Amino acid sequence: MLFRLYFLIVLLIPAFLEVNCGKQFRLGRAKGGNLGAPQGVAHEEVPPAKWFKQKLDHSAPTDLRTWKQRYFINDTFYDNKSGPVFLMVGGEGPADPRWMVKGTWIDYARKFRAMCIMLEHRYYGESHPTDDVSTKNLQYLSSYQALADVANFISSMNIEYGFDPSRIKWVAFGGSYPGSLAAWLRVKYPHLVFASVSSSGPLLAKLDFKEYYEVVANAIQEKTTSSNCLKKVRAGHKQVVALMNANPRVLDKEFRTCKPLSTASKNDIKNFYNGIADDFAELVQYNEDNRMSLNTKYKNITINTVCDMLINSNDTALKALAKFNSIMLDKSNQTCMDYSYDSMIREMRNISWTSTEGGRQWIYQTCTEFGFYQTSSGEVDLFGDQFGIDFFVQQCVDIFGKKFNKDFINKGIKWTNSEYGAMEITAPKVVYVHGSVDPWHALGMTKTRANDAPAIFVKGSAHCADMYPGRDSDIAELVRARESVEILLSQWLQLP
Ligand SMILES: *[C@@H]1O[C@H](CO)[C@@H](O)[C@H](O)[C@H]1NC(C)=O
Ligand SMILES: *[C@@H]1O[C@H](CO)[C@@H](O)[C@H](O)[C@H]1NC(C)=O
Ligand SMILES: *[C@@H]1O[C@H](CO)[C@@H](O)[C@H](O)[C@H]1NC(C)=O
Ligand SMILES: *[C@@H]1O[C@H](CO)[C@@H](O)[C@H](O)[C@H]1NC(C)=O
Ligand SMILES: *[C@@H]1O[C@H](CO)[C@@H](O)[C@H](O)[C@H]1NC(C)=O
Ligand SMILES: *[C@@H]1O[C@H](CO)[C@@H](O)[C@H](O)[C@H]1NC(C)=O
Repeated sequence: MLFRLYFLIVLLIPAFLEVNCGKQFRLGRAKGGNLGAPQGVAHEEVPPAKWFKQKLDHSAPTDLRTWKQRYFINDTFYDNKSGPVFLMVGGEGPADPRWMVKGTWIDYARKFRAMCIMLEHRYYGESHPTDDVSTKNLQYLSSYQALADVANFISSMNIEYGFDPSRIKWVAFGGSYPGSLAAWLRVKYPHLVFASVSSSGPLLAKLDFKEYYEVVANAIQEKTTSSNCLKKVRAGHKQVVALMNANPRVLDKEFRTCKPLSTASKNDIKNFYNGIADDFAELVQYNEDNRMSLNTKYKNITINTVCDMLINSNDTALKALAKFNSIMLDKSNQTCMDYSYDSMIREMRNISWTSTEGGRQWIYQTCTEFGFYQTSSGEVDLFGDQFGIDFFVQQCVDIFGKKFNKDFINKGIKWTNSEYGAMEITAPKVVYVHGSVDPWHALGMTKTRANDAPAIFVKGSAHCADMYPGRDSDIAELVRARESVEILLSQWLQLP
């Protein structure tokens, strides 16, 4: 199941890479990055890629090596007398040019007559600083380098476009990890970035992100209001655990495993349980958002429809759970459930740029900077307790080497939190937007701390939902959140 069979289907122009196969969700990261793309954008609408000569190592003045970083510009709305510059910060996947013509930030740009620029994050998409993604070459992959990339980029664009640095106002936008980056830009480079809109950004680096699945359970409860759905999932899971010992052949059949569970290693079994839980993570994290969906046939897979299916079916809890697993397999076009730990690790050890579509790079960042491991150790008994923190630490070691052990990861996490301030961040003119249904909100700023850095906590919305184009079916709280951000921008930029 994990990153097996990758097919990159290249559509009409190469800027639009679609992945139609293999597991869509792992380690809390959707394939291609956690931020989706706005839907309904035709290929010919998007502006062409541009390339920026970027420094490889911002910490080494004597190292003059450079590489080409991809970016996109939409200057259609720009008013060169009063307009600000909006910067969409790239993250843990390819920068998708569809964002250049659609999305909430484009609506704001139209209103405030802003220039729109999106800068791809180093090591993702087509921004390749090194020949490959060997562990040695990944030493230049970090949030520190990515923020410095942005700073260097802004300074250079100010010159290229003749922006007066004392007058031009750059506003950073970002969703998910780039939401964190957008906020951190205000900490590190307040003289370059005037304000930030930080959507669904985790600010606290944490090894054991056990709160993630607690929110998954709470969100299912919040959305369905009855406790029957959780009950059925819990019951189904108990049956899985019982059968794993007593009669794994039943599980092979129901869960369509690629190889019999009777031959599975300890790590395979953990991976199997993690896989079942991942399906619910994906379901919840993107519940009813307005993201482009690869397979529109499965657009109706929401917490509500899945819970209806689970509750109303006369199947046993086990069969109902397996049915959901089947839907998720079909959705990602997998013929069987591949829970093999070794094949997952083999893929993640592949150092070619195309092999894991950023998956290896993101795991590297979790192993060196963030942790964020979504373990089964929380106060939630839905998915058992089979995938604890050691399972994830083991992956860092197996993928990158012995040095990447728990102590090493913890040191990286500690540095990240002291470098950016974690939840003690103090940077004015940042607005934090989170959704209650998004598990990532547990590591983000959801309460207002200061009037000049407010938090908007949207009851009922999912990961980065505020960034996608609005639609009629949006809940009122989400509509209000978009309006509140617009009002803040208007105040900060002093534009009507
Ligand atoms: C789905 O998988 C099948 C068999 O693996 C393959 O033939 C087909 O092209 C895939 N379809 C898509 C849309 O990826
Ligand atoms: C601003 O735009 C106008 C109209 O396109 C142009 O004539 C003018 O030169 C521009 N000014 C600057 C400073 O770029
Ligand atoms: C900028 O976005 C608008 C709104 O979608 C679109 O009409 C316009 O063509 C875009 N301009 C460029 C240069 O891509
Ligand atoms: C989604 O819609 C399809 C028909 O388009 C239907 O067959 C399927 O059962 C629905 N799935 C859920 C979970 O409601
Ligand atoms: C479940 O069984 C009840 C009673 O036999 C029946 O009325 C109902 O239609 C069944 N539901 C489904 C989804 O098959
Ligand atoms: C690594 O991935 C590439 C691209 O998917 C593939 O062609 C290559 O065979 C893989 N290498 C190994 C050692 O598996």
